Amino acid sequence: MLLSTWSGFLSALLASFTSHRGGENASLSSSSSALQFELRHYHAVSPAAQVLFHDARPHAQSLSHTSHTIRTRSVKTHRPSTLAAFAHARTRSIRFAESVYLDWDEDEVQGPNIESRETLLELAKMTNDAYLSPGESGWYDLGNEWNVSYPFGWEPDADGFRGHVFATSDNSTVVLSIKGTSAGFLGGGGPTTKKDKFNDNLLFSCCCARIDWTWTVVCDCYLGGWKCDKNCLEESLIEESLFYSIGTNLYNNLTYMYPESNIWVIGHSLGGALASMLGVTFGVPVVAIESPGEKMAARRLHLPTPPEVQHITHVYHTADPIAMGTCNGVLSSCALGGYAMESRCHLGLSVVYDTVSNLSWAVDIRTHGIVNVIEKVLSQPWPPSVGVGREVPEAKPEEDCVECYSWDFGDHPFKKKEMVL
Ligand SMILES: *[C@@H]1O[C@H](CO)[C@@H](O)[C@H](O)[C@H]1NC(C)=O
Ligand SMILES: *[C@@H]1O[C@H](CO)[C@@H](O)[C@H](O)[C@H]1NC(C)=O
Ligand SMILES: *[C@@H]1O[C@H](CO)[C@@H](O)[C@H](O)[C@H]1NC(C)=O
Ligand SMILES: *[C@@H]1O[C@H](CO)[C@@H](O)[C@H](O)[C@H]1NC(C)=O
Ligand SMILES: *[C@@H]1O[C@H](CO)[C@@H](O)[C@H](O)[C@H]1NC(C)=O
Repeated sequence: MLLSTWSGFLSALLASFTSHRGGENASLSSSSSALQFELRHYHAVSPAAQVLFHDARPHAQSLSHTSHTIRTRSVKTHRPSTLAAFAHARTRSIRFAESVYLDWDEDEVQGPNIESRETLLELAKMTNDAYLSPGESGWYDLGNEWNVSYPFGWEPDADGFRGHVFATSDNSTVVLSIKGTSAGFLGGGGPTTKKDKFNDNLLFSCCCARIDWTWTVVCDCYLGGWKCDKNCLEESLIEESLFYSIGTNLYNNLTYMYPESNIWVIGHSLGGALASMLGVTFGVPVVAIESPGEKMAARRLHLPTPPEVQHITHVYHTADPIAMGTCNGVLSSCALGGYAMESRCHLGLSVVYDTVSNLSWAVDIRTHGIVNVIEKVLSQPWPPSVGVGREVPEAKPEEDCVECYSWDFGDHPFKKKEMVL
């Protein structure tokens, strides 16, 4: 599994180095234009971790392609200067859990204009739809003429990585929208719940989701007290973080299908965190909505990190305890649901809506849902921004962000098993 993932990853890289050029020229000439998208594929991963695509077909009567209008602008990204250097760095990180210095080439691609409210709104709708089958209640119609009645490949027992692929009609831009946690949080559920929870706890907890002794840990790195074995954590993430590996496979498949296209990755919640990690890896524009802090997971995975990650944009609001990293502690709603969402720092730039101050919202896990964000935050002008001549809050890096500060992450020389009772 690890080996096949790795070769998939390499071919993905190859593709990302050899492609991306064709569509770019055209897009750069119009640095602030609008794009129209349509749904192209559903993607889902079977239990055997095979990536399945199913083509979406427009409804028979409809020939029109109206759908999303999304504003774009050019964005600086970084790609490793050579494939060999990147492959070396990634091998070091997989085999030896080390970060290696890399040369990065600066590049400019056409990304979403994250200063446009409509654009954030449309992308948010695409992330919502990643949870659903077209036509299922809650699906945001992305153009009335599109109606897909089609038993596309989400087999009932598929329990992994899911989402949709949207593309412009000329294939110049393709958006990969990744599903987040289907979960117990909001009383939902579904076949992916168990794997989602495992991934959440592995990626976003300080030390294997050990909240107290009653918890079943997701890895075995706890050393007693507030001590946690750093090497052990990194190893377990690399081995077990299935979704990240599957994501790289998916990206691989996408660059194979759309070798000339400009690819963006978006997602909500866990999907947003995964989008961001893929964006760091491949240097593609990302919009992540209400994502838990993923900086720690990226560090633990030793993803080669470019000098700048301004092509990654987070959008979240202050009443969401998951995005804010405040949904922790034995009695929090996350803990009660079996989730240890302890991380709080995000990569790239963050567009933060202060709903606590301006809408007087109480901090509540129910505000985390994407529909809430679409309907109550993004669907109407945001007064504090409008007041200063903007459409959305200014995107800023999260400086001086601290997380998991009470833990001691050491390179503990002892074998962990001897320490844990
Ligand atoms: C790329 O852009 C340049 C300058 O705008 C133009 O001269 C050239 O023909 C373009 N190349 C392609 C392949 O479109
Ligand atoms: C779209 O699908 C829904 C549910 O499958 C159906 O009720 C509706 O009539 C369809 N709309 C069109 C325009 O075909
Ligand atoms: C867009 O990509 C799809 C999938 O690879 C392909 O079938 C289609 O012909 C492409 N369309 C254009 C206009 O290039
Ligand atoms: C998609 O990925 C899977 C798993 O890596 C691979 O077996 C398959 O050939 C890929 N398909 C395409 C079209 O790249
Ligand atoms: C929300 O922001 C607007 C514009 O800045 C301001 O006029 C209004 O008083 C704010 N509301 C609250 C409750 O702070």
